[in-house]
Amino acid sequence: MGTTMRMSSGTAADFLPARQTLASLRKAAAHCRACDLYKQATQTVFGEGNPHAPAMFVGEQPGDKEDREGHPFVGPAGKLLRDAMSAAGISADDVYLTNAVKHFKFVWRGKRRIHAKPKRIEVRACEPWLIAEIEQVRPQLVVALGATAAQALLGPSFRLTVHRGELVVSPYAPRVVATVHPSSILRARDDDSRRVEMAAFIDDLRIVADVMRTPA
Ligand code: URA
Ligand code: SF4
Repeated sequence: MGTTMRMSSGTAADFLPARQTLASLRKAAAHCRACDLYKQATQTVFGEGNPHAPAMFVGEQPGDKEDREGHPFVGPAGKLLRDAMSAAGISADDVYLTNAVKHFKFVWRGKRRIHAKPKRIEVRACEPWLIAEIEQVRPQLVVALGATAAQALLGPSFRLTVHRGELVVSPYAPRVVATVHPSSILRARDDDSRRVEMAAFIDDLRIVADVMRTPA
């Protein structure tokens, strides 16, 4: 009889596995082609960490090193993030690390690959992976690192500059707190401002550490 046409959603929803576990999601995400970013990148960089983490940290997208190695936050921004977590009393064993967008978007500058900001449509396309990760891990708190992650979780009108460090409710998680992206601290114009920004970042992570210590 008639054929059934399945409409493409134009998002990663088309690639979600029928039975969802972190392992099946990771496997399926490796073959995602829901937006153009897979074409230029080396591989999908899926989230990693404690599968029952009380806190999930969400960055923007993998960087150059993450793209080559296939793991999130293994480059300079990841080192700064781990230093700040440790200063705030957060153990790396208690977190799950992921990104709003799972493929590295970049432009060539000579022989170097320079980060390019993902478009809203690419963040939207990739969102089903992030939502599925949150559903699997069920963290008490999701930490949005930077405006891209914050807007993926809290909508395009969320203003990081206004609501930084506030505990807010998201459709996807009972509690979300947004702070800056660690890369923004690496880009600080001088050592003094870098120290100030690092101290403010650690203060935000102390809020995270407090929530992690409070039973749900
Ligand atoms: N920046 C991010 O947002 N995520 C990474 O995994 C690395 C750098
Ligand atoms: Fe799929 Fe996300 Fe990669 Fe786009 S960036 S192809 S939506 S995994």
